[in-house]
This record gives sequence, structure tokens and C-alpha cells, in this order.
Amino acid sequence: MKTLVLANQKGGVGKSAVAVQLAYFFNLVLKKRVLIIDLDHQRNTSKAIRTGAIAAVSQLAASRLLSTKIDGGDIENAEFVLIPADNAELLKMEKQADKHNSFATNLHTFLKTVDERFDVCIIDTNPNPDIRQLSALVVSNYVLSPIQLNQEAIDGIGDLLNHDSIGIRKIQATLNPTLQLIGILPNLVEPTPFQRDNFRDLSTHFAKLLIPMTNGFAAIKKSTAVPESQAAGLPIWKLGKTSGRDAWAQIRPVFEQIATTMGVI
Ligand SMILES: Nc1ncnc2c1ncn2[C@@H]1O[C@H](COP(=O)(O)OP(=O)(O)OP(=O)(O)O)[C@@H](O)[C@H]1O
Ligand SMILES: [Mg+2]
Repeated sequence: MKTLVLANQKGGVGKSAVAVQLAYFFNLVLKKRVLIIDLDHQRNTSKAIRTGAIAAVSQLAASRLLSTKIDGGDIENAEFVLIPADNAELLKMEKQADKHNSFATNLHTFLKTVDERFDVCIIDTNPNPDIRQLSALVVSNYVLSPIQLNQEAIDGIGDLLNHDSIGIRKIQATLNPTLQLIGILPNLVEPTPFQRDNFRDLSTHFAKLLIPMTNGFAAIKKSTAVPESQAAGLPIWKLGKTSGRDAWAQIRPVFEQIATTMGVI
């Protein structure tokens, strides 16, 4: 099983939308067995996946994967499973400092017990530099960071890499040397001169962090098809609208590149 975490401390950049749509892509298009874990108390990923009713929803709440020793045998027997976010318990975890080590260890041990049952595990995280995000980064093989093309987000790339506790480089140097950054993925991209300039800056200064494609770097345009698909819990390509087909034509090669980097195709 390959584990991918969606992480960026910036809110609203598309972590949950990409997590959900990637899970659909892996399961429905690539026919992979997919486990998706929602560690965000906002529960956006859980809501979309529940609404879509394509995946089995586990009885087990996500906080339990960190707070207790769960065996994979206790997880619903299906090829596409959501472990949904709870709210209060997930929010309490940061304050339980004495248990932080065991949170990460429990999650790590749980993932080992489902290693043979799933091909891919996707973890969606909350936009706070806390123990949930840290645990996810410590147990994952790959990290993908959607960003928006505004100055604030570009300034935030330093933190994404070098933040004291959850910076990707910090974690690679200490707790998880095997963590591989798939890349930063500009999302909600608009054809304005401002965004074009920011993309050019990004390509100049952070080319190594972007995801190379045959025709430049990976990016996802702003499209009404994304929130509509998320609200309906549908894969974008099943939205049944021109906007959905157009968005998917652009997103699919990006997802294929991510799957290739992860060695899933
Ligand atoms: N490419 C896109 N085009 C248009 N809307 C998008 C796109 N990507 C995401 N969105 C929408 O933007 C909003 C924020 O996205 P999302 O919830 O995925 O961000 P997030 O990073 O998970 O946020 P948070 O940090 O709060 O968890 C959602 O309404 C989502 O549907
Ligand atoms: Mg989210």
C-alpha cells in the first residue's frame, strides 16, 4: 500500500477536493483498492464521500486510529473504504501532549495491518500545524500540497518546507526520511495577469517543487465543476455537464502523473 497525505497549512486550497477526486480516480478509473482517511474535524472529505455513496463508510471514526490500537481486521471489508472524521475527539488531540507519540505510533501500526488489503491510502488533513497533520506526515510515503497562486500562498511555501514541527524538509530530516514530496500543485488557477505572473515566479524559483508534465507544470484551473462535484459527492467526470468534462480533461493527466510518481500505474 502506498500512502499519500494532502497537506498545506493554508485553508481552502483544495486539499479535500483533490483527496476525494483522487480517491475516485484511483478506485473507479485505475481499479485500485482505496482507503481514505479524513483527519479534518471540518469533515469536508467525509461529507463528499458519504453523499456519493460509492465507498463503504467505516463505523470507526478517524480519531480512533490515533487514540487506540486498531487492527485492520476491524475495518469494513470493501475495496473502497472511508474512515470518516469525527469532530470533538479530533479537536481534543492537540491538547493531549503526553499522548502525541502514541498517536503517531498507533496510526503507523494500523496502516501496517491494512498494507495488503489496500493499494492506496489517501489521508486528508486539517489546515493546522498540529499532531494530526504531523502524524499523517510521519506515516506517509508521499505528500502532495495544493496551493493557490496568491502572494501569501507563495510566501507560505517556506513554511510548508521548513516549519519547525511539520515542515516537509524537517520531517524528512528527522521522523520520516522516506517521505517524498510529489509536489506543490497550483489549484483554483485563474487566467489573470496577476496569477500568470505568480505562476511564472513559482516556475522560476521553485521549479523543483512543481510537478513536471509534458507541457509544463501541473496545475488545476478554477472550475465550477469542482465544488459541484464535491457537493454531489460525484467524480468530476460523472457530473454530466460540459464544465465537468472540460475540468476532467485537464485534471486527469495531472492525476495520472501523481499515480505514476507513486508507482501505482
Ligand atoms: N479547481 C477548483 N475550482 C473551483 N473550486 C475549487 C477548486 N478546487 C477546490 N475548489 C473549491 O474550493 C473550496 C475549498 O476547497 P477544499 O475544501 O478542497 O480546500 P481545503 O484545502 O481542503 O480547505 P481546508 O484547509 O479548509 O480543509 C471548496 O468549495 C472546493 O470545492
Ligand atoms: Mg479540507
